Formats: sequence, structure tokens, C-alpha cells
Amino acid sequence: MGNLTALTKTIRDLNGEMDRALAAAGDPAALEAFRVEYLGRKGRVSELFKTLGGTASEDKSEAGRLLNDLRDRTTRAFEDRAGGLQAAALEEKLLRESVDMTLPGISRPVGHLHPLTLVQREIESIFQRMGFDVATGPEIETEYYNFEALNIPADHPARADWDTFYITDTTLLRPHTSPVQVHVMESTPPPVRIICPGRCYRRDAQDATHSPVFHQIELLWVEEGLSLANLKHVLELFTREYFGEGYEMRFSGDFFPFTEPSVQVHIKAPGAARWLEIMGAGMVDPAVLTNVGYDPERVTGFAFGLGIERMAMLKYGIDDIRTFLANDLRFIRQF
Ligand code: FA5
Repeated sequence: MGNLTALTKTIRDLNGEMDRALAAAGDPAALEAFRVEYLGRKGRVSELFKTLGGTASEDKSEAGRLLNDLRDRTTRAFEDRAGGLQAAALEEKLLRESVDMTLPGISRPVGHLHPLTLVQREIESIFQRMGFDVATGPEIETEYYNFEALNIPADHPARADWDTFYITDTTLLRPHTSPVQVHVMESTPPPVRIICPGRCYRRDAQDATHSPVFHQIELLWVEEGLSLANLKHVLELFTREYFGEGYEMRFSGDFFPFTEPSVQVHIKAPGAARWLEIMGAGMVDPAVLTNVGYDPERVTGFAFGLGIERMAMLKYGIDDIRTFLANDLRFIRQF
């Protein structure tokens, strides 16, 4: 019996020690150290089992039961502690990763259309309401569409003004949107009523009102019985709609090989000291109508090419065309 008493005391002491050790084991590494120390193959519990061999035979089964209880209790305590630690870790992780739906979101700045695009769309919408369709044409043109079809023969002095960035010997970056007139008339019988917005390129030196890359809107109306009076009326309706009250418009004579007569249109903003040229215009030259297979005895037409940058400058009081391409957000954000 002395053996059993000693064993019971050893087990009690060991239980106390293990309870403290388990309570102190706060992470997986410490838990594993506990397992090796007490429950491992060479651990303290296994060591105790080895003493069974020396136990008196009448005490053996009771000692075995005590030791089995010890092992079961220790194993259970270990598993409980491991489970508890895992649950706590999960809880902590969930708390750390939780999403607070009431926090304000991360705002992503949304851009907006460039002032030139806004102005182009506004002009398009005015003419669409007047019944004009929007047409487009290539920015790389052949000499034929850019010059010959527009009544500008190879030796014509007007070519010198427009000779521009050549891509090959016979193709160039278009200096105006007028070649689109020819494309449209070639593919459509009269009546024709279109506008054509697009980018243009010129050898012009850059200054406050000239840029080597700029935008025009071409307009073309061909039908029976049109005269310069119709052109003037359309322009008056358009400028009133686009600018509102207070802007003045004036016509002066000009020359374009593809219109006869030709005019230049200037606008003066309210209170401004100077007029700004916004477009070239005129009655389509009969030679151009003939080139596309129209009968100039039956139909007449008028056309213009309007500078979009200049329209934006007049409306918003911008005094330098270079501002549009300077990429200064303080400017862009004002629109
Ligand atoms: C022309 O380009 C003619 N094709 C217009 C035309 C069309 C006349 C149909 C008759 C019939 P002009 O070179 O004047 O014409 O240019 C027209 C407008 O484009 C100018 O009034 C101006 O507003 C704009 N413009 C021309 N060059 C530049 C430039 N370098 N930078 C900014 N705007 C320009």
C-alpha cells in the first residue's frame, strides 16, 4: 500500500504542476513543448508507466488505473487548452479582419470631359437639332481629297498656305475638315446636310490663337435653291444659340478655291476690344459640285469650317490657345 500512497502523491503533484504549465502555455510552440514534456513517448507520464514493472503485484491493477486516469486527464486537459487557444486565435483574427460597413469608402476621383470635347459636343447638338447629321473622315488624306477635288490644283497659290505635314508623297495630315465634304458628296446624292468635327494639322507657328494641332467643325448643306442668305441665317441662329446675347458677328470677304463667294466670320465677345476670326465659309464652288458628280445647275450649297478652340476661347474668356493642351488640372477642373 505504501507504493500506492506514494504514487497517488506523485500523481497529485504532477497534476498540479501540469495544470500550471498548461495555463502558462499561451501559444502553439509552448503547447507543443508541454506535449513533449508530459505526454511524449519519453515524457513524464510515460516515465511513470515504466515504474509499474516494480510495483507489488497486488497493487498493480490499482496503480495501472491511477496512471491511466492520469494519462486520460492530462490528454483531455491538453486538448481543451489547445482548442481554447485555437478559438481565441480565430476570434482575434476575425476581429482584426472585420469590415466596418459604416466607415466612409475610399473615394476614386472621376475625371470629366475636356473643355474642347464639351464645346464640340455642344456645337454638334445645336446643329443636330437643326437637322444636320454628323459625318467623319480620315485625318490622313490624299492630295486629291485635300486639294484637287476642292478645286485647288497643284500649282495653285492656295496650296502654299496649306501645304502641311506629308506622310508620303501623296498623303498628308489634313489641314482642314473640308475634304470630308467630298467624301460625303461622293457617296450621297443631294440633298446633303452634314457637320463633321475633327482634328486638323498645320505648319502654323504657335501663338495665342494658332496651334499646329487644332479642331474644326465642317458644315455642308447642298440642296435646290440655297443662297448666301440661308448661310447667314443658319450662322445667326447658331451663334445666338451657342453664345447667347451680347456677342456680335461680322462677315468680311475672303477667298477659298472651293467656295464662291467666300467669307470670313468674326465674333466679338461682350466688352471685348478685338474681333476673333472663327470660321471660313461660302457658297460651294460649282467646280466642286461637278467633281463629285452633282449638277451645279440644279443644286447649290454652302459650307463652313469653324475652329473649335476659338469657339471655346470666346465663350470662356480664354486668351491663349496653348492652355487647352498644357495639361494643367487647375485649368481643366474649371469646366
Ligand atoms: C479653312 O480651313 C477652310 N477649310 C474653311 C472653309 C470651309 C471655308 C468650308 C469655306 C467652306 P481657315 O484656314 O480660315 O479655313 O480655317 C478655318 C478656321 O479654323 C479658322 O477661322 C480658325 O478658327 C481655325 N483655325 C485655322 N488654323 C488654326 C490654327 N492653327 N489653330 C487654331 N485654329 C485654327
